[in-house]
Amino acid sequence: MRIALSKGKLLAGSEALFKQAGLPFPESDGRKLVVERSGLSFLFVKDADVPTYVEYGAADCGIAGRDVLMEAGSDVYEPLDLGFGRCRLVVARPVGSAFAFASASTVRVATKYPRVAAAYLQGKGVSVEVVRLAGSVELAPGLGLADCIVDVVETGRTLQENGLEVVEEIAASTARLIVNRASFHARRDELSRLLRTLQGAA
Ligand code: PRP
Repeated sequence: MRIALSKGKLLAGSEALFKQAGLPFPESDGRKLVVERSGLSFLFVKDADVPTYVEYGAADCGIAGRDVLMEAGSDVYEPLDLGFGRCRLVVARPVGSAFAFASASTVRVATKYPRVAAAYLQGKGVSVEVVRLAGSVELAPGLGLADCIVDVVETGRTLQENGLEVVEEIAASTARLIVNRASFHARRDELSRLLRTLQGAA
């Protein structure tokens, strides 16, 4: 069975959960991207790619944040909230800025979450211009690249250090176990055992 794991912020929580559950967990030096342990094959991939590996069946299951799943919109089962990796997906703007959705006709938003940002802001009845970035999005408003950002906030330190404040919360997020639809049936027993074991430790 193949399991896709995020190489990013969820890795430490995934390792803690597997160890708590008495399951094997591989050491990775960040270079070897597939590691075999006790009949399980662990794939180390970028956060945003976990749903893709699972949706296409390259992995039978994986661990991904709800934020990433909302953005990906992948067709996968999401049977278990693992509870760790808690953060919030928010809209943030420069502290003290006059920017407000009600008075803006077009909002320019910088984000790693273009689909979520566009859907959320369009839902407010404003027209949206999305500036897609791969990271460090908190820089964008201060440099005139965007009016606001949509990003995840965990401790709030990155916002604070870059002179931004939360305007609205879009969603709360935690790590989820996701399962490929075909594998869910083809490997039902194996996956049910894994689910029960992780559920007991989460
Ligand atoms: C994430 C997110 C924020 C930061 C929030 O970035 O995009 O920048 O963490 O965490 P905080 O509220 O605890 O400060 P990440 O570390 O994944 O790096 P990135 O900017 O390269 O996306």
